[in-house]
Amino acid sequence: SSHAHAPIGVFDSGVGGLSVLRAIHATLPAESLIYCADSYHAPYGERDNAFIIERTLAISAWLVQQGVKALVVACNTATAQANHLLREKFNIPIIGIEPGIKPAALYSNSRVAGVLATASTLRSEKFHRLITAYAADCRFICQAGSGLVEAIERGETDSDAVSALLKAYLTPMLDAGADTLVLGSTHFPFLEIAIRRIAGDQLRLIETGEAVARQLTRRLAAQQLCAPPDAKVTLRLYSTANDGIRLQTLASQFLKTDQIAEHISIPS
Ligand code: SIN
Repeated sequence: SSHAHAPIGVFDSGVGGLSVLRAIHATLPAESLIYCADSYHAPYGERDNAFIIERTLAISAWLVQQGVKALVVACNTATAQANHLLREKFNIPIIGIEPGIKPAALYSNSRVAGVLATASTLRSEKFHRLITAYAADCRFICQAGSGLVEAIERGETDSDAVSALLKAYLTPMLDAGADTLVLGSTHFPFLEIAIRRIAGDQLRLIETGEAVARQLTRRLAAQQLCAPPDAKVTLRLYSTANDGIRLQTLASQFLKTDQIAEHISIPS
């Protein structure tokens, strides 16, 4: 279709969605991507629902204006609060992200799994439905990761402060025999080294970027929206933060790109 050459829009409250962008790029190397980090307003996870919905709609509308053919909401908090509204408002494939509760329930041997997500995600109806579906034969220990997203936005993924927070959050899970940890925010894969230092190999980490990339692939194929293999590929990075350097630094580390991150102001 004529839209096949259009880029895919990916957004997160901040830099965390780069973990999803990386999975999308690895799975769909012919696709052009536009990433928007709402870092000026991060973190979303302890904001009220109305704020999260307002920002998610504003960023999504901006990406749609840029001509994206599909939208990936690479933020668990925004998906839980706003995905149903995005589907009503925009007539393109919308792919959200949710904590990997199902794979945790499938693979946990000890039948105890920890879930680290934002306060907003944990209190959402969507999360409650998800956990209720799998909690019958697996015990989930849910913990709000307060303070962690802020630290990652500051570029801290392995500081003493991050270690102290993680120790407080993970110790009850480890003591209860958890063998699995659901990373319920796209920011948290950046904490892998710090998590490993505390938990060693006891916890299998479950992130959802690859599942999202597979789902995106199916949705594009179903609507004949896949870019042709010889398409010219572009990557554009935007941040609402006054300086996009954090986004750029992480993107260069994790996506091996020298793409400049541009500042963009997107009012609600
Ligand atoms: C945040 O902005 O608090 C992180 C959102 C998320 O990944 O759920």
